[in-house]
Amino acid sequence: MGVVRKIPANVTRHDLQPREQRWNRLGQVPVIAWLTGLSGAGKSTLAGAADRALVAAGRHSAVLDGDNLRHGLNADLTFTPKDRSENVRRTAEVARLMAEAGSVVIVSLISPCRADRALARRIAGDIPFLEVFVDTPLGLCEARDPKGLYRLARAGRIPDFTGVSAPYEAPERPDLTITTEGRSTEACARSLSTLLLRLSRAATGAAPRR
Ligand code: ADX
Repeated sequence: MGVVRKIPANVTRHDLQPREQRWNRLGQVPVIAWLTGLSGAGKSTLAGAADRALVAAGRHSAVLDGDNLRHGLNADLTFTPKDRSENVRRTAEVARLMAEAGSVVIVSLISPCRADRALARRIAGDIPFLEVFVDTPLGLCEARDPKGLYRLARAGRIPDFTGVSAPYEAPERPDLTITTEGRSTEACARSLSTLLLRLSRAATGAAPRR
């Protein structure tokens, strides 16, 4: 599995405006934070809180959330390994486009398969990519069960549910691990937003132009 696919016949790439000009105008450089973890681990909550902190600090930031994308772009995908891979591939391509446009992009996707997350990193190319492990034990996710899905999965009413009847491969060398157990959402989000603020700071340190 690789990023380089067969180049479609009769389709040519266009060289568009250098992205650095756009980034200079925004006064920041992009970064992609890829949050992975079990359902109910707190990925969406953390992504939302970190995103708010970044915007409050004057950064251009956006969230790509698995549940939300499955209402639109990825509405045709199921939870088979093949469709989860496609979910990751499409989301990574969108993340890269948004990053090329200058945004900080925070992705929250279970993305249970290591190889798929490695693909996402390759798709990001030269855009800084952080694999962020939202580390919440299965027992705690199940106790929280914010959407009642673990209960349904244990009752056999949701097939291939991550952590119950489908595997989750934890990152081996994540760029950042956020342990949520016993910590507030604010504290967890701060460790992410602080890092993203630093990494998205323009080299010149110029303030964003408005
Ligand atoms: S991923 O595995 O393909 O990366 P994604 O992050 O898009 O998953 O979507 C996960 C969300 O879909 C979960 O938070 C949960 O609300 C819902 N969901 C529905 N069915 C399943 C399932 N079989 N496994 C995991 N999550 C599921």
